[in-house]
Amino acid sequence: MNAANDNGSYGSIVLIGAGPGDTDLLTLRAVARLREADVVLYDDLAGDAILLFANPLADLIAVGKRAGHPSPKQSELNRLMIGFAQQGKRVVRLKAGDPAIFARADEELVAAREAGIAVEIVPGITTPTAAAAYLGASLTKRGVARRLQMVTGHDIDGQLPRDLDLNALADPGATTCVFMGKATFATLAAQLIARGLPAETPTVVVESLGTTAPHKYTGTLQTIANALALVRPSGPCLILYGAALQDVVAAEPLLSN
Ligand SMILES: C[S@@+](CC[C@H](N)C(=O)[O-])C[C@H]1O[C@@H](n2cnc3c(N)ncnc32)[C@H](O)[C@@H]1O
Repeated sequence: MNAANDNGSYGSIVLIGAGPGDTDLLTLRAVARLREADVVLYDDLAGDAILLFANPLADLIAVGKRAGHPSPKQSELNRLMIGFAQQGKRVVRLKAGDPAIFARADEELVAAREAGIAVEIVPGITTPTAAAAYLGASLTKRGVARRLQMVTGHDIDGQLPRDLDLNALADPGATTCVFMGKATFATLAAQLIARGLPAETPTVVVESLGTTAPHKYTGTLQTIANALALVRPSGPCLILYGAALQDVVAAEPLLSN
């Protein structure tokens, strides 16, 4: 049974997209919901400065999910979120980028609805569009890149997902954005080249967007995996490849910051 809070209102859950981390890329709606929150459950990837927008009386709880570090199980996180809402609290679940893109919002939406708790999504700027702004590049290009696709490079076991549509991913007329692909990109690139995607396809890695030290590494499908192995970037990385990125790579053909 859901309880009402001191103001007589019932608990709620808002999944907020924090965007890449820059406070001025938050939406006005995100700021409004943060100001109203009683509890904020936030991911590692959301920039800490964003938390300054939260109601000063709110409980701020880190529920980080950075790869390689311990993080609560999704089921525990759902229980925590639902538990606060059932006490009548307005719960914000703050996620990097957009909550509906590779952020397990599906599981949180189901859990909230099954518990009969009102749930809302406030969109955020997803990493590919933040990357386009950082690179000063368009991800689509008339006659060159007529498809934009987002894919995860990381399955539940940490491996490259076995059921990827490699034909789609080897489409030379697409720009492809690979989330969580640092460890598996060498394998993916080899499979794409074997499917006929040119080895010299422009490829860019963007790391730690929205922080004070973002980086980019440029190269080709063939060279970028070696570059990643050499540099071993520690921040979150998005890998983008496709002909639309030709100008970005031509401007800085070598591994660069
Ligand atoms: C769990 S997914 C979250 C995606 C997020 N919901 C979005 O819309 O961008 C985490 C992955 O997103 C990408 N990512 C998230 N934040 C990033 C950042 N600040 N810089 C570069 N890549 C980032 C990386 O591929 C990272 O491994």
